[in-house]
Amino acid sequence: MSTPLLEVANLSVSYGRVTALRDVTLRIDEGQIVAVLGANGAGKSTLLLSIIGAVKPLSGDIHFAGQAVTAQPMHRRVGQGIVLVPEGRQILISMTIEENLLLGAHLRTDTKIVRREMEAIYDRFPNLATRKDHLASCLSGGEQQMLAVGRAMLAKPKLMMMDEPSLGLSPLFINRLFDLIKEFNRDGLSILLIEQNTGKALSVAHHAVVLELGRVALEGEPARLAQDPRLQEAYLGGAAT
Ligand SMILES: Nc1ncnc2c1ncn2[C@@H]1O[C@H](COP(=O)(O)OP(=O)(O)OP(=O)(O)O)[C@@H](O)[C@H]1O
Ligand SMILES: [Mg+2]
Repeated sequence: MSTPLLEVANLSVSYGRVTALRDVTLRIDEGQIVAVLGANGAGKSTLLLSIIGAVKPLSGDIHFAGQAVTAQPMHRRVGQGIVLVPEGRQILISMTIEENLLLGAHLRTDTKIVRREMEAIYDRFPNLATRKDHLASCLSGGEQQMLAVGRAMLAKPKLMMMDEPSLGLSPLFINRLFDLIKEFNRDGLSILLIEQNTGKALSVAHHAVVLELGRVALEGEPARLAQDPRLQEAYLGGAAT
């Protein structure tokens, strides 16, 4: 078997006395979309935060492209291509659209190539291009999500992790977003996708994992999981609140 792009082994994370992840094991091969599903509080965001290095695990190992990254600081991981589109998008609304985009490239020194990639992002998202010098607060939720995705692309991801990107978007933008996810993946990008929109996520993923109270409750082929009554149970029975 070839080396996985990402390998998370027996990862456990707590916040003080709250255990958020227990013994989670996950593998993403190059070129795959892996969906992580689960109810509120299941530990989905914590998984992404520990993979990027914003949260320190209690135990377990994370390997990226064959290298142990568990002890590496976040900027090193981002430099190697682990990029997060965070929950709630985290657009800085008092900065311009262009300044927000450039934040994605802050570790890069190849400024000419960054400029070219930015133009490609503007070509793809004309709504951002026409208002690039405006404050990001003028964007709709859907446009802010596109900005968050554009910013992540400027970080040159090998693995793009997306935390509930469809949350709060109109059906039109949800469809655009998932078209974009499929297109990036066809171009070779590997994606770790967290979603509460189970149907959409399972329709694009190659593999899916269901977290329930911090544990992997269920995993497998998306088409089969979509039919599994335990998927519904994980949502109904696994809610922390
Ligand atoms: N900074 C924190 N301090 C204390 N507890 C936290 C913190 N962040 C998350 N938790 C707790 O850890 C558990 C997992 O939270 P996490 O945010 O990872 O879940 P999630 O699956 O992303 O939920 P949601 O669907 O609501 O985004 C929950 O019980 C949550 O209350
Ligand atoms: Mg979350």
